[in-house]
Amino acid sequence: MVEIIPSILVKTKEEFLNKILAVENLTERVHLDIADGIFVPNMTISGFEEVESIETSLKIEAHLMVSKPENHVIRWLETQVDSLIFHIEATQKATEIIEKAKEADRRIGVALNPETPISALAAFIDQIDFVHFMTVEPGFYGGQFVESVLDKMSDFHYFYPDKPISVDGGVNLETAPKLIQAGANTLIVGSYIWNSKDVAQAIEEIKKNV
Ligand code: DX5
Ligand code: ZN
Repeated sequence: MVEIIPSILVKTKEEFLNKILAVENLTERVHLDIADGIFVPNMTISGFEEVESIETSLKIEAHLMVSKPENHVIRWLETQVDSLIFHIEATQKATEIIEKAKEADRRIGVALNPETPISALAAFIDQIDFVHFMTVEPGFYGGQFVESVLDKMSDFHYFYPDKPISVDGGVNLETAPKLIQAGANTLIVGSYIWNSKDVAQAIEEIKKNV
């Protein structure tokens, strides 16, 4: 079963609330993008307080596009997010982050930028719940889809057929089936959904196409 998850990448609490409301009855989970202006050249809401201030049935995963995620993880674990994704390029302390998340009973995913090789995961692949492949340079809605990630994902899926894969960036009707073919279980979708006239219909279209 393929899961389609809307992404929320916002600069204000108002935008955050609007996007939560727009998908609350259409999905079980949202993907909250957090950018710090250091690891990526964009800045979003910091996220903790916004997440803590809402009451929603949605599950929330936080995608930390931040430098030194080890300095953020404790604060995130105080919130109700059930999953955290951090970038392997952003830290020397992956094992520490994974252990903290597991102690707090959260799902943990490791993100790889398009050019980062899968060998970067080797040391702790058994400790993580899923791998998060970036198919755009991280930081923004509407990035350019990097086709070469498809081969990297297929290779990973060949070596680790049981490890769940989520994919983030440039998912649309054309790229979604290729991503599933390459082994993805979960597709994060941003601009395709938010630029459509009808959010519900856009989610359904992607589901039908995979
Ligand atoms: C990109 C973010 C993505 C983004 C996806 O850096 O991590 O989650 O919201 O947006 P689209 O689908 O427009 O590439
Ligand atoms: Zn993301």
